[in-house]
Amino acid sequence: MANEKTLAIIKPDALEKGIIGEICKRIEEGGMKIVGMKMLQMTPKKAEGFYAVHQSKPFFAGLVKFMSSGPTVVMCLEGENAIKRWRDMMGATDPEKAAEGTIRKDFGSSIERNVTHGSDASDTAKLEIVYFFESGELVNYEWI
Ligand code: CMP
Repeated sequence: MANEKTLAIIKPDALEKGIIGEICKRIEEGGMKIVGMKMLQMTPKKAEGFYAVHQSKPFFAGLVKFMSSGPTVVMCLEGENAIKRWRDMMGATDPEKAAEGTIRKDFGSSIERNVTHGSDASDTAKLEIVYFFESGELVNYEWI
C-alpha cells in the first residue's frame, strides 16, 4: 500500500453545522494524519480556479457561489491509501446515494451542500494540495 497525501475541504455548510471536530475525529480515528490545516474563506476567483475542471457544467456557478459563501477548513491528510480512504469515508457525492455511516450520508443536505471535498487521484491531489498550501505549511513537506 502506498503512503499518500490528499486534499480535504470541510465546506461552508459543515462549518454552519458546527461539525469540524466530528469530521476531524473521524479522520484521526480512521488512522489518517492531518499534516496541514487552515481555515479560510475562498474568494469567488479562488473557488473558480479550484473547480476549473467543472467550468462547463451547469452547476458551476452555484458551486462557486456556495464554496465562497463562508469559511472552509482545508486540510492535507496523509496515510496509507489516503486518497481512497478519505473518499470512502466521505461517501458518494450525492448524500442520498452515500453509504450508511459516511460523512455525506450523516451530514450532507444535497449534492450541492455535501459537507466535504476530497481529491480523486494522486495527480489531482498534488495539484489541489499546492493550490492551498506552501510547502513549509505542511508536516513532511519534502513530498511537495
Ligand atoms: P466536490 O467533491 O467538492 O466536487 C465538485 C462538486 O460539485 C461536488 O463535490 C458537488 O458538490 C458538486 N456537484 C457535482 N455534481 C453536481 C450536480 N450534478 N449538481 C450540482 N452540484 C454538483
